[in-house]
This record gives sequence, C-alpha cells and structure tokens, in this order.
Amino acid sequence: MADQTFSPGLDGIIAADTKVSYLDVDHEQIIIKGYDLIELAQKLSYPDVAYLLIHGDIPTKDKAKDFCNKLSRQGELSIDLEELLSLFPKSMNLMDALRTGISFIASQEDPDFLKNTSIQANTDMGIRILSKAPTIAVNAYHAINGDPFIHPDVNMGYSENFLYMIQGKHPDRISKEVFDRILTCYIEHEMPNSTFAARVIVSTLSDIYGAVVGAVASLKGPLHGGANEAAVNTILEIYEQGGVDGAENVILDKLSKKERIMGFGHRVYMRKYDPRAFLLTKYIPKLIDRLPEGKDLYSIYLTIEKVMLREKGLYPNMDYPAGMLLYLLQIPIPLFTPIFLCSRIAGLIAHVIEQHENNRLYRPRVVYSGLRDLHPTVNTPISPI
Ligand code: COA
Repeated sequence: MADQTFSPGLDGIIAADTKVSYLDVDHEQIIIKGYDLIELAQKLSYPDVAYLLIHGDIPTKDKAKDFCNKLSRQGELSIDLEELLSLFPKSMNLMDALRTGISFIASQEDPDFLKNTSIQANTDMGIRILSKAPTIAVNAYHAINGDPFIHPDVNMGYSENFLYMIQGKHPDRISKEVFDRILTCYIEHEMPNSTFAARVIVSTLSDIYGAVVGAVASLKGPLHGGANEAAVNTILEIYEQGGVDGAENVILDKLSKKERIMGFGHRVYMRKYDPRAFLLTKYIPKLIDRLPEGKDLYSIYLTIEKVMLREKGLYPNMDYPAGMLLYLLQIPIPLFTPIFLCSRIAGLIAHVIEQHENNRLYRPRVVYSGLRDLHPTVNTPISPI
C-alpha cells in the first residue's frame, strides 16, 4: 500500500472505463456517445439526446415519437404519491422531496423486477424515473406552497410540459427553447460526484432507484448542483444591497474572506471556459427584458464574471448562466437544482446500464493516519449490553 497514490477528492483518478461521455478539456469538447454536446444542444431536443444516452443512437422520427409518448404517458403520479407530497412540511427542501418521491416510486415496482439488472430492466425503470421526476419536483413545490397540483399534459413535449407544470400556463416559444437547451446542457457530464455516487451504489448490484436517490443527495450540495441557486442568490443579494455599482466591492470582500463564489470554477475545467456556460450565456440578453430589474441583474452578472477572471483566473461553470436564465424565465429558485437533477437522470440511466453490464464492486482503500495499538484499561466504563 505504501507506494500507492493518494489523491484527496480523487482528483485526477480514473474511476471508470466508459463509453457514455468524456470531458475533452484540450479540445474544449464534451463528448456524449461520440457527439459534441454543444452541437447536440443546438440541433436536437432534450428527449432526443436522452434517447441517445439511454439507447446509444440518435432516434429515427418514429422512435423519437414513441420515446416521447412513453415519457408523457408515464409522467402522471399515483394518488398515494400525491398524498405523500401533500404531507411534506413547508420547510422541506425540494431536493429532499424529490429524493423521497423517487424512493417511493421504487415501491411501486414488482420486487423481483426491481432486482433485475439487465439492460432492459434498467431502461424500463430508468424511463419511469425520468418521466415522473419533473411531476414529483414541481408538484412537491406546489404542495409545499399550498397550491393545487398541476398534472402533466400528455399532448406536450417533455420540456414544454415541464415548464407548463411549473408555471401553470403554456410557455412561449423562446421560453421553451431556452429551457430545453438548459436541460440538454445539464444532461450528462462524465464523472461528477453524483454520477460517481450512482455507479458506486449499483456496483453492489443494488437497483437504479437507489442509484438515482443517492445521486439526488449528492447533487443537492452547493459544491455541485446547488450552485445554480446559490449563484443567482449572490446576484440578487448584490442587487438588493446596492446594485451594480457595489458589485465589484462585494465580490472582492467575499474573496478576501476566502468565500467561494458559486457558479465559478470546476474540478476539470478550472482554468478554461465551460463550453456549456459559453453556449447558455448567449441566451441571457434575449431574456433580460422579461423582468424590470433584468438589465441590472445582467450588469451584476457580467461584473462578477470580470472580477472572478481578473482576481482568481476562474471562469463561470454552467450553473452560473443556467441560474440566471432560470431566474429570468421566472422559475422559482428552489426548483433550480431539482431541474438540473431531472435532466441528469438520462445520463444516470446510461451509467447504471454500463456499470451493471460490466460490473466490478467499488471498494477503494485508505491511508490510515489514526492511532494504533491502544487497549481498553480496567477503568474503561462498560455500558449495558
Ligand atoms: N470561488 C472562489 N475561489 C475558488 C472557487 C470559487 N468558486 N473555486 C475554486 N476556488 C479556488 C479555491 O479557493 C482554491 O484556491 P487556493 O488554492 O488559493 O486555496 C483553488 O481555487 C482550488 O480550489 P479547490 O476547491 O481545491 O478545487 P476543487 O477542484 O476541489 O473545486 C469546485 C471545484 C467546483 C468545488 C470549486 O471550483 C467550487 O467550490 N466552485 C463553486 C461551486 C460551484 O460552482 N460548483 C458547481 C460546479 S459545476
């Protein structure tokens, strides 16, 4: 063991041999099943890219239609799950609500089927999770706020229906397009903490529901998916405390206190621009007129970006523009991270299928820096058995 490398946070460690996706930092490309994610996001819709991840190829027209029908047919929740959502306390975090809801739908699978780790079983169960997750997240939000449920509309596409359930009205063309781009950009990203967590879980031959539930818990954290909410909260905090003129000083002050500015930096990109952020930033000017304070928020956004590059050499990651866009689309902030998670389910399905196809249990070792050779003494108290 002595000559083995220890890398805190597994930085730089290869954890899997995968055909799902790869961050090619040198060529500034995110490769998804052989395609460039940014090109996919510009040319295809979210369900098409989800299909590519789950089934391995871009769908034909008929297969795409069939897949979309499958997604919308399964989007509805059972009455008992709706009842469960209505029991959630007002203070409940929506990622916790989503985690609980996904756990609950696992109980609706046949117990033997749940144990099945074949490609077909993982695909079927995965698509059920993908279909229901937006309905769970959005209606947990409505239930917590005392508002009525909004049921999915089977006549709408995946992204349109997702937005419709959030806002209770048919979204306009630009909103639909921007929201679909955000979902597609979030869909898959090689081996982030949540994907690693999911692969670790199913490497015990546990089921896909457990993997997605574990990924929800991981993605909730502010160093991961929670950054989109945190990033927009920083912008709003600056807006409320003094606006554009004070933005630079607020950020300098935070940096001097060694605070992290959410939405900046990335374990893999660190000194390069995240291509997803590059694509999404372009949509912000199209939406700034939707809010009276839109222009000011965008000026603060640009100021923070400038200061972070100058002071820390750090670029925005995808959460920075995604948080801003979701806010301009007037989506409630507590839904930002659940939206990221719902999109990422397609990537998680692909990873679970791959892990189960060629499984080896994850079981790393440690560097032990604790004490040794201690012994209980006669005076050591013994608690009742
Ligand atoms: N704000 C301020 N400083 C940052 C920073 C940020 N967002 N991200 C990294 N840094 C600094 C660290 O303070 C550290 O500086 P130091 O060497 O002077 O101490 C250096 O950059 C390296 O940071 P480290 O935490 O070791 O890198 P990491 O690979 O573990 O971190 C993240 C990656 C994503 C966790 C980190 O960039 C971060 O916390 N970002 C903010 C949260 C976020 O946006 N997450 C979404 C990621 S998609």
